[in-house]
Amino acid sequence: SREVKLAVIPGDGIGVEVVAEAMKVLDAVTAGSDIRFSKTPFSLGAARYLETGDTLTDADLDAIKEHDAIVLGAVGGVPGDPRLKDANIERGLLLKLRFELDHYVNLRPSKLYPGAPGPLANPGEIDFVVVREGTEGPYVGNGGAIRKGTPHEVANETSVNTAFGVERVVRYAFALAERRRNKLTLVHKTNVLVHAGGIWQRIVREVAQEHPDVAVDYLHVDAATIFLVTNPDRFDVIVTDNLFGDILTDLAGAITGGIGLAASGNINPDGAFPSMFEPVHGSAPDIAGQQKADPTAAILSIAMLLDHLGLHAESARVTRAVEEDIADRGDAARTTAQIGDAIVARLQA
Ligand code: NAD
Ligand code: IPM
Ligand code: MN
Repeated sequence: SREVKLAVIPGDGIGVEVVAEAMKVLDAVTAGSDIRFSKTPFSLGAARYLETGDTLTDADLDAIKEHDAIVLGAVGGVPGDPRLKDANIERGLLLKLRFELDHYVNLRPSKLYPGAPGPLANPGEIDFVVVREGTEGPYVGNGGAIRKGTPHEVANETSVNTAFGVERVVRYAFALAERRRNKLTLVHKTNVLVHAGGIWQRIVREVAQEHPDVAVDYLHVDAATIFLVTNPDRFDVIVTDNLFGDILTDLAGAITGGIGLAASGNINPDGAFPSMFEPVHGSAPDIAGQQKADPTAAILSIAMLLDHLGLHAESARVTRAVEEDIADRGDAARTTAQIGDAIVARLQA
Protein backbone atom coordinates (compact mmCIF):
# COMPACT_ATOMS: atom_id res chain seq x y z
CA SER A 1 0.00 0.00 0.00
CA ARG A 2 1.07 3.55 -0.64
CA GLU A 3 0.63 6.65 1.45
CA VAL A 4 0.60 10.09 -0.17
CA LYS A 5 1.06 13.10 2.08
CA LEU A 6 -1.14 15.87 0.76
CA ALA A 7 -1.09 19.47 1.95
CA VAL A 8 -4.52 21.05 1.47
CA ILE A 9 -4.88 24.84 1.28
CA PRO A 10 -8.54 25.73 0.68
CA GLY A 11 -7.76 29.46 0.95
CA ASP A 12 -10.43 32.11 0.57
CA GLY A 13 -13.83 32.64 -1.00
CA ILE A 14 -14.92 29.90 -3.37
CA GLY A 15 -11.55 28.19 -2.81
CA VAL A 16 -13.03 26.65 0.33
CA GLU A 17 -16.16 25.52 -1.48
CA VAL A 18 -14.47 23.95 -4.50
CA VAL A 19 -11.75 22.20 -2.48
CA ALA A 20 -14.43 20.51 -0.37
CA GLU A 21 -15.80 18.92 -3.57
CA ALA A 22 -12.34 18.07 -4.87
CA MET A 23 -11.63 16.19 -1.63
CA LYS A 24 -14.86 14.20 -1.97
CA VAL A 25 -13.74 13.16 -5.44
CA LEU A 26 -10.25 12.23 -4.24
CA ASP A 27 -11.76 10.10 -1.46
CA ALA A 28 -14.16 8.43 -3.87
CA VAL A 29 -11.56 7.56 -6.49
CA THR A 30 -9.18 6.05 -3.92
CA ALA A 31 -11.84 4.29 -1.83
CA GLY A 32 -11.13 0.57 -1.51
CA SER A 33 -7.70 0.87 -3.15
CA ASP A 34 -4.36 0.53 -1.44
CA ILE A 35 -3.50 4.21 -1.93
CA ARG A 36 -4.11 6.37 1.07
CA PHE A 37 -4.01 10.16 0.97
CA SER A 38 -3.18 11.59 4.37
CA LYS A 39 -4.30 15.20 4.25
CA THR A 40 -2.93 18.08 6.27
CA PRO A 41 -5.14 21.16 6.14
CA PHE A 42 -3.36 24.52 6.12
CA SER A 43 -5.31 27.58 7.10
CA LEU A 44 -3.74 30.21 4.84
CA GLY A 45 -5.09 33.18 2.95
CA ALA A 46 -6.88 36.41 3.71
CA ALA A 47 -8.87 34.86 6.55
CA ARG A 48 -5.67 33.71 8.29
CA TYR A 49 -4.06 37.10 7.73
CA LEU A 50 -7.00 38.88 9.34
CA GLU A 51 -6.78 36.55 12.32
CA THR A 52 -3.03 36.48 12.93
CA GLY A 53 -1.33 38.95 10.60
CA ASP A 54 0.62 36.08 8.99
CA THR A 55 0.67 35.35 5.28
CA LEU A 56 3.06 32.40 5.01
CA THR A 57 5.50 31.82 7.85
CA ASP A 58 8.76 29.89 7.54
CA ALA A 59 7.20 27.23 9.74
CA ASP A 60 4.24 26.94 7.33
CA LEU A 61 6.58 26.64 4.39
CA ASP A 62 8.75 24.01 6.09
CA ALA A 63 5.68 22.01 7.02
CA ILE A 64 4.30 22.19 3.47
CA LYS A 65 7.64 20.97 2.08
CA GLU A 66 7.23 17.75 4.06
CA HIS A 67 4.35 16.77 1.78
CA ASP A 68 4.30 14.89 -1.51
CA ALA A 69 1.93 17.35 -3.18
CA ILE A 70 -0.33 20.32 -2.53
CA VAL A 71 -3.91 21.15 -3.44
CA LEU A 72 -4.89 24.81 -3.32
CA GLY A 73 -8.31 26.36 -3.84
CA ALA A 74 -7.78 30.09 -4.34
CA VAL A 75 -6.57 33.00 -2.28
CA GLY A 76 -7.53 36.66 -2.19
CA GLY A 77 -9.76 38.66 0.09
CA VAL A 78 -12.73 40.84 -0.62
CA PRO A 79 -11.63 43.79 -2.77
CA GLY A 80 -11.53 47.06 -0.92
CA ASP A 81 -11.40 45.45 2.53
CA PRO A 82 -9.47 48.16 4.41
CA ARG A 83 -7.96 45.59 6.78
CA LEU A 84 -6.14 44.01 3.83
CA LYS A 85 -4.64 47.29 2.66
CA ASP A 86 -1.11 46.32 3.70
CA ALA A 87 -1.46 42.65 2.83
CA ASN A 88 -0.53 41.09 -0.45
CA ILE A 89 -1.83 37.60 -0.13
CA GLU A 90 -1.27 36.82 -3.81
CA ARG A 91 2.43 37.67 -3.69
CA GLY A 92 3.07 36.68 -0.10
CA LEU A 93 1.36 33.31 -0.29
CA LEU A 94 0.62 32.04 -3.78
CA LEU A 95 3.66 33.40 -5.60
CA LYS A 96 5.88 32.69 -2.61
CA LEU A 97 4.84 29.04 -2.77
CA ARG A 98 5.46 28.89 -6.55
CA PHE A 99 8.87 30.51 -6.19
CA GLU A 100 10.08 28.73 -3.05
CA LEU A 101 8.94 25.35 -4.33
CA ASP A 102 10.49 26.05 -7.73
CA HIS A 103 7.29 25.49 -9.69
CA TYR A 104 8.89 26.47 -12.93
CA VAL A 105 6.28 24.76 -15.09
CA ASN A 106 2.77 26.10 -14.73
CA LEU A 107 0.81 23.55 -16.73
CA ARG A 108 -2.58 24.73 -17.94
CA PRO A 109 -4.43 22.35 -20.27
CA SER A 110 -7.47 23.48 -22.26
CA LYS A 111 -9.87 21.04 -23.76
CA LEU A 112 -13.35 21.65 -25.08
CA TYR A 113 -15.38 18.73 -23.74
CA PRO A 114 -18.52 17.74 -25.63
CA GLY A 115 -21.46 19.57 -24.10
CA ALA A 116 -19.38 22.32 -22.51
CA PRO A 117 -21.04 25.71 -22.97
CA GLY A 118 -18.35 27.39 -25.07
CA PRO A 119 -19.01 30.85 -26.48
CA LEU A 120 -17.58 30.11 -29.94
CA ALA A 121 -19.91 29.26 -32.82
CA ASN A 122 -17.44 27.01 -34.65
CA PRO A 123 -14.74 26.10 -32.18
CA GLY A 124 -13.42 23.01 -33.93
CA GLU A 125 -11.41 20.71 -31.70
CA ILE A 126 -9.82 22.56 -28.83
CA ASP A 127 -7.11 20.59 -27.09
CA PHE A 128 -3.96 22.45 -26.15
CA VAL A 129 -1.71 22.99 -23.16
CA VAL A 130 -0.21 26.27 -22.09
CA VAL A 131 3.21 25.77 -20.54
CA ARG A 132 3.50 28.95 -18.55
CA GLU A 133 6.84 29.78 -16.97
CA GLY A 134 6.24 29.98 -13.22
CA THR A 135 9.25 31.48 -11.46
CA GLU A 136 10.47 34.43 -13.50
CA GLY A 137 9.29 37.20 -15.83
CA PRO A 138 7.50 40.27 -14.53
CA TYR A 139 6.35 38.25 -11.49
CA VAL A 140 9.68 38.25 -9.64
CA GLY A 141 8.96 41.49 -7.81
CA ASN A 142 12.02 43.20 -9.19
CA GLY A 143 10.60 46.69 -9.15
CA GLY A 144 10.11 49.84 -7.22
CA ALA A 145 8.90 53.38 -7.30
CA ILE A 146 10.62 56.67 -6.61
CA ARG A 147 9.10 60.05 -5.77
CA LYS A 148 5.98 58.09 -4.91
CA GLY A 149 2.78 60.03 -4.86
CA THR A 150 4.27 63.04 -6.62
CA PRO A 151 3.68 64.13 -10.22
CA HIS A 152 7.25 62.94 -10.83
CA GLU A 153 6.70 59.40 -9.67
CA VAL A 154 8.52 56.70 -11.62
CA ALA A 155 7.34 53.12 -11.15
CA ASN A 156 9.22 50.13 -12.56
CA GLU A 157 8.51 46.43 -12.70
CA THR A 158 11.31 44.53 -14.36
CA SER A 159 10.82 41.27 -16.22
CA VAL A 160 13.60 38.86 -15.29
CA ASN A 161 14.36 36.12 -17.83
CA THR A 162 17.40 33.95 -17.22
CA ALA A 163 18.91 31.53 -19.74
CA PHE A 164 18.66 28.80 -17.08
CA GLY A 165 15.02 29.59 -16.34
CA VAL A 166 13.88 29.92 -19.94
CA GLU A 167 15.77 26.87 -21.17
CA ARG A 168 14.37 24.50 -18.56
CA VAL A 169 10.74 25.41 -19.25
CA VAL A 170 11.29 25.40 -23.02
CA ARG A 171 12.80 21.90 -22.77
CA TYR A 172 9.78 20.76 -20.80
CA ALA A 173 7.46 22.19 -23.46
CA PHE A 174 9.27 20.44 -26.32
CA ALA A 175 9.17 17.11 -24.49
CA LEU A 176 5.45 17.61 -23.89
CA ALA A 177 4.85 18.43 -27.56
CA GLU A 178 6.56 15.15 -28.49
CA ARG A 179 4.13 13.24 -26.29
CA ARG A 180 1.23 15.11 -27.95
CA ARG A 181 0.85 16.34 -31.54
CA ASN A 182 4.40 17.63 -32.16
CA LYS A 183 3.49 21.26 -32.39
CA LEU A 184 4.89 24.07 -30.28
CA THR A 185 3.98 27.75 -30.40
CA LEU A 186 6.10 30.32 -28.64
CA VAL A 187 4.05 33.33 -27.59
CA HIS A 188 5.79 36.57 -26.66
CA LYS A 189 6.05 40.17 -27.78
CA THR A 190 9.49 40.17 -29.41
CA ASN A 191 8.68 43.20 -31.56
CA VAL A 192 8.60 45.40 -28.47
CA LEU A 193 10.20 43.50 -25.60
CA VAL A 194 13.38 42.92 -27.54
CA HIS A 195 15.52 41.68 -24.64
CA ALA A 196 13.01 39.52 -22.82
CA GLY A 197 11.55 38.30 -26.11
CA GLY A 198 14.96 37.81 -27.68
CA ILE A 199 16.16 35.30 -25.12
CA TRP A 200 12.97 33.24 -25.47
CA GLN A 201 13.19 33.23 -29.24
CA ARG A 202 16.86 32.28 -29.27
CA ILE A 203 16.47 29.46 -26.77
CA VAL A 204 13.42 28.04 -28.53
CA ARG A 205 15.39 28.07 -31.78
CA GLU A 206 18.34 26.29 -30.14
CA VAL A 207 16.31 23.62 -28.37
CA ALA A 208 14.28 23.08 -31.56
CA GLN A 209 17.46 21.70 -33.19
CA GLU A 210 17.22 18.73 -30.86
CA HIS A 211 13.56 18.14 -31.76
CA PRO A 212 13.36 18.12 -35.58
CA ASP A 213 10.01 16.32 -35.35
CA VAL A 214 8.35 19.25 -33.56
CA ALA A 215 6.91 21.99 -35.77
CA VAL A 216 7.72 25.33 -34.16
CA ASP A 217 5.63 28.42 -34.59
CA TYR A 218 5.78 31.92 -33.11
CA LEU A 219 3.00 34.42 -32.36
CA HIS A 220 3.02 37.83 -30.78
CA VAL A 221 0.76 37.74 -27.76
CA ASP A 222 -1.78 40.14 -29.22
CA ALA A 223 -2.20 38.00 -32.33
CA ALA A 224 -2.35 34.89 -30.15
CA THR A 225 -5.51 36.25 -28.53
CA ILE A 226 -7.07 36.53 -31.98
CA PHE A 227 -6.28 32.95 -32.96
CA LEU A 228 -7.40 31.58 -29.59
CA VAL A 229 -10.85 32.87 -30.51
CA THR A 230 -10.91 32.35 -34.29
CA ASN A 231 -8.75 29.22 -34.68
CA PRO A 232 -8.11 27.55 -31.33
CA ASP A 233 -7.67 24.18 -33.02
CA ARG A 234 -4.32 25.31 -34.40
CA PHE A 235 -2.69 25.03 -30.97
CA ASP A 236 -1.05 22.03 -29.35
CA VAL A 237 1.59 23.24 -26.88
CA ILE A 238 1.97 26.94 -26.19
CA VAL A 239 5.07 28.00 -24.29
CA THR A 240 5.18 31.50 -22.86
CA ASP A 241 6.31 33.70 -20.02
CA ASN A 242 4.66 34.10 -16.64
CA LEU A 243 2.49 37.14 -17.38
CA PHE A 244 1.41 36.28 -20.92
CA GLY A 245 0.62 32.76 -19.69
CA ASP A 246 -1.60 34.16 -16.96
CA ILE A 247 -3.62 36.24 -19.39
CA LEU A 248 -3.88 33.62 -22.14
CA THR A 249 -5.12 30.95 -19.74
CA ASP A 250 -8.11 32.95 -18.52
CA LEU A 251 -9.01 33.39 -22.19
CA ALA A 252 -8.38 29.70 -22.79
CA GLY A 253 -10.77 28.94 -19.94
CA ALA A 254 -13.43 31.18 -21.42
CA ILE A 255 -13.36 29.48 -24.85
CA THR A 256 -13.60 25.98 -23.35
CA GLY A 257 -16.72 26.39 -21.29
CA GLY A 258 -15.75 28.87 -18.64
CA ILE A 259 -13.15 29.50 -15.99
CA GLY A 260 -15.01 27.09 -13.70
CA LEU A 261 -13.62 24.21 -15.78
CA ALA A 262 -9.96 25.27 -16.10
CA ALA A 263 -7.44 23.23 -14.09
CA SER A 264 -3.75 23.72 -13.52
CA GLY A 265 -0.62 22.30 -12.00
CA ASN A 266 2.37 24.19 -10.66
CA ILE A 267 5.01 21.60 -11.33
CA ASN A 268 8.49 21.12 -9.99
CA PRO A 269 9.56 18.54 -12.57
CA ASP A 270 12.75 17.66 -10.72
CA GLY A 271 10.70 16.41 -7.78
CA ALA A 272 12.83 18.31 -5.26
CA PHE A 273 9.71 20.02 -3.97
CA PRO A 274 6.01 19.16 -3.88
CA SER A 275 4.01 20.26 -6.91
CA MET A 276 0.79 22.19 -6.37
CA PHE A 277 -2.55 21.71 -8.12
CA GLU A 278 -5.19 24.41 -8.28
CA PRO A 279 -7.95 25.77 -10.46
CA VAL A 280 -6.93 28.63 -12.76
CA HIS A 281 -9.61 30.85 -11.26
CA GLY A 282 -9.44 32.96 -8.13
CA SER A 283 -11.48 33.35 -4.96
CA ALA A 284 -14.40 34.98 -6.82
CA PRO A 285 -15.62 37.27 -4.03
CA ASP A 286 -18.64 38.11 -6.21
CA ILE A 287 -20.12 34.63 -5.76
CA ALA A 288 -18.31 33.36 -2.65
CA GLY A 289 -20.29 31.63 0.07
CA GLN A 290 -23.30 31.08 -2.15
CA GLN A 291 -22.62 27.60 -3.51
CA LYS A 292 -22.59 29.07 -7.02
CA ALA A 293 -19.01 28.17 -7.95
CA ASP A 294 -18.35 25.35 -10.37
CA PRO A 295 -15.98 22.91 -8.61
CA THR A 296 -15.05 21.18 -11.87
CA ALA A 297 -11.75 23.07 -12.26
CA ALA A 298 -10.69 21.97 -8.79
CA ILE A 299 -11.79 18.41 -9.54
CA LEU A 300 -9.87 18.31 -12.83
CA SER A 301 -6.88 19.62 -10.87
CA ILE A 302 -7.19 16.43 -8.79
CA ALA A 303 -6.95 14.46 -12.05
CA MET A 304 -3.72 16.34 -12.81
CA LEU A 305 -2.45 15.60 -9.30
CA LEU A 306 -3.16 11.89 -9.72
CA ASP A 307 -1.37 11.86 -13.06
CA HIS A 308 1.61 13.62 -11.55
CA LEU A 309 1.78 10.97 -8.83
CA GLY A 310 1.76 8.23 -11.46
CA LEU A 311 -1.80 7.18 -10.58
CA HIS A 312 -2.87 7.26 -14.22
CA ALA A 313 -5.86 4.93 -13.97
CA GLU A 314 -7.33 6.94 -11.10
CA SER A 315 -6.70 10.16 -12.99
CA ALA A 316 -8.46 8.82 -16.07
CA ARG A 317 -11.46 7.77 -13.97
CA VAL A 318 -11.82 11.29 -12.57
CA THR A 319 -11.52 12.84 -16.01
CA ARG A 320 -14.09 10.42 -17.42
CA ALA A 321 -16.55 11.17 -14.61
CA VAL A 322 -16.13 14.89 -15.27
CA GLU A 323 -16.54 14.41 -19.02
CA GLU A 324 -19.77 12.50 -18.46
CA ASP A 325 -21.03 15.16 -16.08
CA ILE A 326 -20.27 17.93 -18.58
CA ALA A 327 -21.93 16.01 -21.40
CA ASP A 328 -25.13 15.62 -19.35
CA ARG A 329 -25.27 18.81 -17.39
CA GLY A 330 -27.73 20.80 -19.50
CA ASP A 331 -28.94 24.18 -18.30
CA ALA A 332 -30.30 23.36 -14.86
CA ALA A 333 -28.50 25.38 -12.19
CA ARG A 334 -26.74 23.21 -9.63
CA THR A 335 -24.98 24.10 -6.42
CA THR A 336 -21.26 23.55 -5.96
CA ALA A 337 -21.98 20.51 -3.81
CA GLN A 338 -24.53 19.09 -6.27
CA ILE A 339 -21.92 19.13 -9.04
CA GLY A 340 -19.35 17.51 -6.75
CA ASP A 341 -21.85 14.87 -5.63
CA ALA A 342 -22.88 14.12 -9.20
CA ILE A 343 -19.27 13.51 -10.19
CA VAL A 344 -18.71 11.34 -7.11
CA ALA A 345 -21.83 9.33 -7.98
CA ARG A 346 -20.42 8.64 -11.46
CA LEU A 347 -17.17 7.45 -9.91
CA GLN A 348 -19.09 5.06 -7.69
CA ALA A 349 -21.35 3.78 -10.46
P1 NAD B 1 -11.70 35.21 -10.34
O1 NAD B 1 -11.18 34.08 -11.15
O2 NAD B 1 -11.80 34.98 -8.88
O3 NAD B 1 -13.16 35.61 -10.88
C1 NAD B 1 -13.40 36.10 -12.21
C2 NAD B 1 -14.85 35.83 -12.58
O4 NAD B 1 -15.03 34.43 -12.81
C3 NAD B 1 -15.84 36.21 -11.49
O5 NAD B 1 -17.02 36.72 -12.06
C4 NAD B 1 -16.14 34.89 -10.80
O6 NAD B 1 -17.42 34.82 -10.19
C5 NAD B 1 -16.02 33.90 -11.96
N1 NAD B 1 -15.59 32.58 -11.50
C6 NAD B 1 -14.35 32.27 -11.05
N2 NAD B 1 -14.30 30.99 -10.69
C7 NAD B 1 -15.52 30.46 -10.91
C8 NAD B 1 -16.09 29.16 -10.73
N3 NAD B 1 -15.38 28.13 -10.23
N4 NAD B 1 -17.38 28.97 -11.06
C9 NAD B 1 -18.10 29.98 -11.56
N5 NAD B 1 -17.63 31.24 -11.76
C10 NAD B 1 -16.35 31.47 -11.43
O7 NAD B 1 -10.80 36.47 -10.67
P2 NAD B 1 -10.75 37.94 -9.98
O8 NAD B 1 -12.12 38.37 -9.67
O9 NAD B 1 -9.90 38.72 -10.84
O10 NAD B 1 -9.96 37.71 -8.63
C11 NAD B 1 -10.57 37.56 -7.35
C12 NAD B 1 -9.48 37.34 -6.30
O11 NAD B 1 -8.84 36.08 -6.52
C13 NAD B 1 -8.36 38.38 -6.37
O12 NAD B 1 -7.94 38.62 -5.03
C14 NAD B 1 -7.27 37.68 -7.14
O13 NAD B 1 -5.99 38.18 -6.85
C15 NAD B 1 -7.43 36.28 -6.66
N6 NAD B 1 -6.94 35.25 -7.56
C16 NAD B 1 -6.38 34.16 -6.97
C17 NAD B 1 -5.98 33.08 -7.74
C18 NAD B 1 -5.39 31.90 -7.06
O14 NAD B 1 -5.41 31.80 -5.86
N7 NAD B 1 -4.84 30.95 -7.79
C19 NAD B 1 -6.18 33.09 -9.12
C20 NAD B 1 -6.78 34.23 -9.70
C21 NAD B 1 -7.17 35.29 -8.90
C1 IPM C 1 -3.36 32.73 -11.46
C2 IPM C 1 -3.58 34.03 -10.69
C3 IPM C 1 -2.29 34.46 -10.04
C4 IPM C 1 -1.28 34.69 -11.14
C5 IPM C 1 -2.39 35.70 -9.14
C6 IPM C 1 -3.48 35.57 -8.11
C7 IPM C 1 -1.08 35.98 -8.47
O1 IPM C 1 -4.11 34.99 -11.52
O2 IPM C 1 -2.98 31.72 -10.83
O3 IPM C 1 -3.63 32.70 -12.65
O4 IPM C 1 -1.23 35.78 -11.71
O5 IPM C 1 -0.51 33.77 -11.43
MN1 MN D 1 -4.66 34.25 -13.49
